Amino acid sequence: MSTNKVNFSSKLGLVAATVGSAVGLGNIWRFPGEAANGGGAAFLIVYIACVFLLGIPVMVSEFALGRGGKSDAVGVFGVLSPGKKWWITGLIAVVASYMVLCFYMVVAGWTFEYLWQSVTGNLYAPDAGETVGSLIDYKARFANRMHAYIQEDWQPLVNTYIMIGINLLVLMAGVQKGIERLSNLLMPLLFVILLVFCAVALSLPEAGAGLKYFFAPDFSRLTAKVVIGALGQAFFSLSLGMGILVTYSSYFPKDTKLTRTAITVSVLDLLVAVMMGIIIFPAVMSFGLEGEAVQGTTLVFVTLPEVFAHMPMTQLWSVLFFLLLFVAALTSTISIAEVTIAFFQDRLNMRRITACVAVLLPLFVFSTLCSLSLGSLDDVRIFGKTIFDFFDTFATNILLPIVAMTTCIYLGWFAPKGFMEDQITNGGTVRSWVLRPLLFIVRWVAPVLIFIILISPLLFAV
Ligand code: PHE
Repeated sequence: MSTNKVNFSSKLGLVAATVGSAVGLGNIWRFPGEAANGGGAAFLIVYIACVFLLGIPVMVSEFALGRGGKSDAVGVFGVLSPGKKWWITGLIAVVASYMVLCFYMVVAGWTFEYLWQSVTGNLYAPDAGETVGSLIDYKARFANRMHAYIQEDWQPLVNTYIMIGINLLVLMAGVQKGIERLSNLLMPLLFVILLVFCAVALSLPEAGAGLKYFFAPDFSRLTAKVVIGALGQAFFSLSLGMGILVTYSSYFPKDTKLTRTAITVSVLDLLVAVMMGIIIFPAVMSFGLEGEAVQGTTLVFVTLPEVFAHMPMTQLWSVLFFLLLFVAALTSTISIAEVTIAFFQDRLNMRRITACVAVLLPLFVFSTLCSLSLGSLDDVRIFGKTIFDFFDTFATNILLPIVAMTTCIYLGWFAPKGFMEDQITNGGTVRSWVLRPLLFIVRWVAPVLIFIILISPLLFAV
């Protein structure tokens, strides 16, 4: 059983890389909308509970598995329980992460397009026939542009290929010189940009009303569906159940404190989501856009450009925001790709460079199909879904919970005796009061709750 021998070179670097994976479009464009639907702070309370009660214990479990097994997502099971079939869980994780990679790369391409359009200023150039100074229908303008940039065939493909190229360069440079160095550079930048936007949002005229909207709890909105949605969101946002944290933690040195690292990463991820709420709601209120979408592509590609268009220094804000989005997407794609790269390196004994090419090259086919399925391949359907949506739903709603649940069952019940204790306490050198509650959650609570997430589509027939 071959195992990897690389490590992240510093504590800061490993936290930056893991936060880089966790902070992605889930925080930026999914969270604010979920919060708005779920009754503001009412949703936030439930979400925080999900992160602490479930997210952190599952994260610690994945860390233990990766750091203890010191191999890729499949190999760790072979190292710890040779001759058993648990490695199939790892294989499902590799498949899930690869499916996510296929469509996430396309989305990352959109962020690049918008960054580029902001830098050149084209995003804000008037349409032909639009007279400057007359009343402009910004919503129609940006909606048209989103259609042009995302749903047309060629432009999104070019952007996807650019993102594949950037990923290739970073990943080929290796774990320390590629992933770690990039994360050390980009994560502080991401937080600085977020802070700037928070300051701007709080100085807007309707900041108070926006914050009230976000932070006033409306418990009547808390349905079972919203609660289960919060659990699913926590899993996706923390990058759980896809072998990502297992792979990254196989690069953690022996003395890394797993619980503390999981708490740091999760709290930072949560912080980014909350900061996005603090930014979006005051902005939307202040420019009279309350009715507009505060979620998904419409939020970032239509509503926010409209906000920027109303502000002085439009282009500056636009460049900064899409840089933020681009950084969040890039560091996430890199972590997703690393799962299969490590798998190829460790299981198939490929050299790193070969593994990087073997993982990223097929994306020219798969990501192309995902991208085209939003345009001219719209009528190709798998179980009634476009290729893009099928990859998304199958990987995140079905495979992700299966992997997370099986991982907890394995670590709670079947891993070598004392393995979790040993990993959490670093061989007995770190005292940890969380050990008992954590083990209880991994054994009993997490498998049951994750099972509920898994079958929830059947419960709600959605
Ligand atoms: N956690 C990232 C986000 O919030 C996305 C992601 C999902 C990254 C799955 C890796 C794996 O967007």
